[in-house]
Amino acid sequence: MTRATIIDGRTYAAEIRLQLANYVSELCDSHHIIPGLAIVLVGHDPASQVYVRNKHRQAQDIGMHSLVSLLSENVEEKELIDIIEGFNCNTAINGIVVQLPLPAHMDTQQILNTIDPSKDVDGLHPCNAGHLCAGSDRGITPCTPLGCLRLLRRQHPSMNGMRALVIGRSNIVGKPMAHLLVQENCTVTIAHSKTRDLLQECRRADIVIAAAGQAEMVRGDWVRPGATVIDVGINRVACQEGSGMSVLAGDVCFAEVVEVAGAVTPVPGGVGPMTVAMLLRNTLLAFLQQVGVEKGFCA
Ligand code: GUN
Repeated sequence: MTRATIIDGRTYAAEIRLQLANYVSELCDSHHIIPGLAIVLVGHDPASQVYVRNKHRQAQDIGMHSLVSLLSENVEEKELIDIIEGFNCNTAINGIVVQLPLPAHMDTQQILNTIDPSKDVDGLHPCNAGHLCAGSDRGITPCTPLGCLRLLRRQHPSMNGMRALVIGRSNIVGKPMAHLLVQENCTVTIAHSKTRDLLQECRRADIVIAAAGQAEMVRGDWVRPGATVIDVGINRVACQEGSGMSVLAGDVCFAEVVEVAGAVTPVPGGVGPMTVAMLLRNTLLAFLQQVGVEKGFCA
């Protein structure tokens, strides 16, 4: 058995960022306009801080304006809503991200509903979720599933009739991912914590999207030989008891799965960089729609 192809999300994401940077630079030269991204972070969750820093830096690196609004853990929902409404009205801001999770005292859906759907570059507003569900390309597609799809398309230019298993049913990854795969003509199953015989479901699948948030859950003997496995998980796992050290682990046991699968994404360096690249792509698209400039790019 040959080892799986390792799908290099880091390199692919860098190629996309380069295309976006060139496009932003052309816009700046020809129209003297620059897309703007606003990112809101509530509280001090260390993982969220890292994600927000990456989004902010990478937006700036491709020539966009980016600002981060840092709010205290105890901020009132009303204050957050006022800030989002301010961004909705601000023509220099074309994309808005509210980093999740929000503190428990906030109603996350209510907050997401406040974002102007045309600036909802995470694609989490019900309007955008509805477009995706209806198979329309008029909405904004959530970044992580879109990044996974881009990686899959590199392996499978056509996914017609393939069996796809999505493990996880979150609004941010599992559900939108399933809709995207249906659009690709896959036969899609969504598995979750109540699924009976997950192992058998997994063994039948040509494509597995692991987005359950459980470290190394998908083992080598779960995977059909030659299947493509996309690992969305980012789990911090303690190295040794008492050492205080931790490492990143995906939802897939990479060492085992790489011996069985046809292709697999690593963690880190797989889906993560693609998520940020798709956020930047969504921000540029949102900007072009808001200012009425022809699309003319394909990132
Ligand atoms: N938290 C984890 N992933 C994401 C994401 O893609 N967008 C937002 N807003 N928050 C997240």
